[in-house]
Amino acid sequence: MNLPFFPPEASTTATRVDEIYFALLALSVLVLAIVFLPMIYFLFKYRRGKKANRRPLGVSTMKIELIWTFIPTFIAMGLFAWGADVYFYQEIPPANALEVNVVGKQWMWKIQHQEGNREINELHVPVNRAVKLTLASEDVIHSFYVPAFRVKQDVVPGRFTTEWFTPTRVGVYRFYCSEYCGADHAKMRGLVYVMAPAQYEEWQAEGRPPDTLAQSGEKLFREMGCSGCHVNSFTVHAPPLEGLYGKLVPLSDGTFAHVDDKYVRDHILIPASEVPAGYQPIMPSFEGRISEEQLLELIAYIKSIGAEPTNPSQP
Ligand code: CUA
Repeated sequence: MNLPFFPPEASTTATRVDEIYFALLALSVLVLAIVFLPMIYFLFKYRRGKKANRRPLGVSTMKIELIWTFIPTFIAMGLFAWGADVYFYQEIPPANALEVNVVGKQWMWKIQHQEGNREINELHVPVNRAVKLTLASEDVIHSFYVPAFRVKQDVVPGRFTTEWFTPTRVGVYRFYCSEYCGADHAKMRGLVYVMAPAQYEEWQAEGRPPDTLAQSGEKLFREMGCSGCHVNSFTVHAPPLEGLYGKLVPLSDGTFAHVDDKYVRDHILIPASEVPAGYQPIMPSFEGRISEEQLLELIAYIKSIGAEPTNPSQP
């Protein structure tokens, strides 16, 4: 459905959000009519001086109370279930989604693709393919909002958040920062280009740098000295990272941790927490020495040598 003054409906999420939105609107109009139309009618019928029957009707008030308690309760619970369904759909990205990293900073959006392509304030995606954004912030809270897709997610410093959508229509759509983040907040916006798969491939091939994101991460892994301990683990007692991503690892405090983006991120910044069993907390923190973009590159590298089946180069 496309209405004037209403953002285009260009993702699967948008369709679901609009359905519940218009259902709520229709229901509100219905309730409004039920309350106000009789009210206006009664204003005239029972006006002072008018001859009307003002004696009690003799209807059981208990019956009336029960009806107007239970019917709206069932309607509200139905809406709750429907809303929860849309919410979970919106919050849980499908496993096979195309992964794109988005880093917000005052006042721009920097975007990293797994193949190595990078963009600023522009996001190119193929149509009819689920896209999962991993969002990080260099400074303050931002929020990544694409009205045409009906998705919005806060981008919070110190952690990753995610947002996903499946665009359904080729076209160009606006995205905005929707969390006030300083003087140029209003300028922190850009365009999503939803392309046919062939055009998307073409775009990607045109701007493809020599290194993929994982390869940039591997370079960084050497430059920052990570490989000194994690590769030549004969001299320093540090765990090897091959096959680690996606696994459940035992920690020195007896608990387990799932090695995901969050775990790797925390381990680079706060290595003294969640130390793997059998190792000493000797790794230095890289807090303040590594940018969000570099963190995402390192994670892409560790993921590429991890246990996840998404990496084709893995035997
Ligand atoms: Cu970033 Cu507002």
